[in-house]
Amino acid sequence: MGLEGTVGSTPPGDLCDPVANYGGRLGKWWFARAENPSHLYAYRQIANFIRASLRGSPALIVDYACGAGHLLTRLSIRFPRSRLMGLDRSALLLERARRRMSRLGDPAVRRIALFQVLLPDFVSRRPGADIAVYSFPNMLPPFGKSGSIWYRRYLGPADVRTAAVLARSSDSDEGHRVEDPERVQADLLLGRLISLNLRGLLKRGGTCFRVEYAKARRHELRRIDLMRVAFEEGSLDMEVNGSISDQWFRVLASSYFRSRVMEDVYQQTHDEQDSGGGGYVITVLRAL
Ligand SMILES: C[S@@+](CC[C@H](N)C(=O)[O-])C[C@H]1O[C@@H](n2cnc3c(N)ncnc32)[C@H](O)[C@@H]1O
Repeated sequence: MGLEGTVGSTPPGDLCDPVANYGGRLGKWWFARAENPSHLYAYRQIANFIRASLRGSPALIVDYACGAGHLLTRLSIRFPRSRLMGLDRSALLLERARRRMSRLGDPAVRRIALFQVLLPDFVSRRPGADIAVYSFPNMLPPFGKSGSIWYRRYLGPADVRTAAVLARSSDSDEGHRVEDPERVQADLLLGRLISLNLRGLLKRGGTCFRVEYAKARRHELRRIDLMRVAFEEGSLDMEVNGSISDQWFRVLASSYFRSRVMEDVYQQTHDEQDSGGGGYVITVLRAL
């Protein structure tokens, strides 16, 4: 069995452990979704896309919030000389990942390490990975009401100001959902914390592959949505109302795939705007 462990993290503020959700009903729901034909096809397509995007063998690939290892195991087959690391909090899903790995046989299993860890984790050692993969995220914050302590400690006032401005701006609300600015701001800041963590896992010049549910191609996004995406992923390179946020990534490419995986989102939100059509976008980013 590959190297395993629990990475020690001492997050500030009140700890809200999402394992309670992903270890139970939500974890079982996710596993059933991840095993359906649309997802299995998508994992194959994503693994092929990543393989085709890279020359040679990266030394270390990190799968951030790897779940039951559907992508991790496929990547281990496409990169037979690389070491792989899967990070996730859910014991239930990591156990499923372990079972999936055991079918690959010993040599592959020895190259894969799974860590049970609450993310984002700014405490553990930085592995200097060549590749980080972050797919179908549905991250639950590791804090309750103490998000602001995290934002102060790991982000900064410019980020908090920018998130507040972006959460309250819109190009036109016509035909778009009514938003709660506080909620949007919190989501932007959690997303940005995760991107900072992803950057910290990578070496300079490393590559991050983000696979996210989408209803449109990147260039079709409304200006405000594109700015929010760029802010969250750490690729925003412009001033917003006098504040400049640090840039950690540069976008290299973005590809859109139609897929029924988008139904996951509707099953969680029950919002009609999430039903029908859509798919996912793979964004390739260079760590600066
Ligand atoms: C929608 S699943 C995606 C899993 C995987 N990336 C995939 O594509 O199959 C989201 C994963 O994020 C994990 N997760 C959510 N919030 C987390 C947190 N704060 N810390 C660690 N893992 C978390 C869940 O346990 C779950 O495995």
